[in-house]
Amino acid sequence: MKNLTLSTENDLENFIKSKKYMKVFVISGKKSYTISGASHLLKKILKKKIVKFYLKNSSYPEISELKKIVFSIKDFLPDLILAVGGGSVIDYGKIANVVQNITNLEKHIINSSFKFKKKYTQLVAIPTTAGSGAEVTSNAVIYIDKIKYSLENKLIKPDRFFLIPELVVNSSKKIKAAAGFDAIAQAVESLISKKSNYQSAYYAKKSLNISLKYYLEYLKRPNIENSTAMCLAANLAGKAINISKTTAPHAVSYPFASLYGLSHGHAVSLTIEKFLKFNYVNHNSAKCNFDLQSRYKNIFEIFKVKNILELEKLFIDMKSKANLIDDFKKLKINLNTQLDKIIDGVNLQRLRNNPVDLNKKDVKTILLGFN
Ligand SMILES: [Fe+2]
Repeated sequence: MKNLTLSTENDLENFIKSKKYMKVFVISGKKSYTISGASHLLKKILKKKIVKFYLKNSSYPEISELKKIVFSIKDFLPDLILAVGGGSVIDYGKIANVVQNITNLEKHIINSSFKFKKKYTQLVAIPTTAGSGAEVTSNAVIYIDKIKYSLENKLIKPDRFFLIPELVVNSSKKIKAAAGFDAIAQAVESLISKKSNYQSAYYAKKSLNISLKYYLEYLKRPNIENSTAMCLAANLAGKAINISKTTAPHAVSYPFASLYGLSHGHAVSLTIEKFLKFNYVNHNSAKCNFDLQSRYKNIFEIFKVKNILELEKLFIDMKSKANLIDDFKKLKINLNTQLDKIIDGVNLQRLRNNPVDLNKKDVKTILLGFN
């Protein structure tokens, strides 16, 4: 990664200058805007522009805050929207830029009757985590009454992105651990997703070859080199899931984020090795147009393990080193009393991408199996 350069602060500055934008709407996170160094950078770059900020509050994208952002954009009439933050900030920007009217917005999202007409204006994504890969995907997540919905359309994808490693190097270890794990989970889920194809597998493998080399070092001793590597790995994993979508660990993660406030990457990490094992053990009943067992062979090679048990152990060790707690008792989640509520929040659309068919009862068994 030594000789690799992604975007630089100058690239962003030159882009904004060259396009003669007048009014810039910036969406960012309350804390991350300063911690990442974005506030310092944008102060310089946007000096001569008319700027309006929205600094988001909630830890996951939810409908009432989305409406405030839409309202604020319509009021300000920007010619450029900059979404500077993690996956939630970028998802807010992506959805806000396609919402024409907030009347009945919840109803349309819930009933999948949302009409995508056009983008409001140019949207540029600048991730401050490495990450969700949200800068390259055509879908975005929004929660209504703690249930996750996904909007998907080519108009959702940001027009441009800038990967600036200097903006991700200063995030907390907790954010780095969760976001980096998300990138790893997205890439490995992509490889076994029913919708996986040659192109998505190429991106996912490339992503994992980088992330597995740099993830733990990035947590322990963050520097520009490993931040660059993780930005690239996250971006490639984003490109992979933009084609293949995610599978069971993501489908089951959403209630853990909305009901218990776990970060997205942490929520995904809870079940990853369990579902990987379930799919491997049941590969004979897989319903995908590729050979799942040979795909697992690829995964073993990439992870440098011999079999599924070693892969399982590797993920458990990785989570432990990253301090991503997966013990429900320690997380104060009582599965015995909360299970039905959790299962209600499972995303069935993502569950259907799992190579082996799973129903809610299977998910219950898998969740209870390791409590
Ligand atoms: Fe994710």
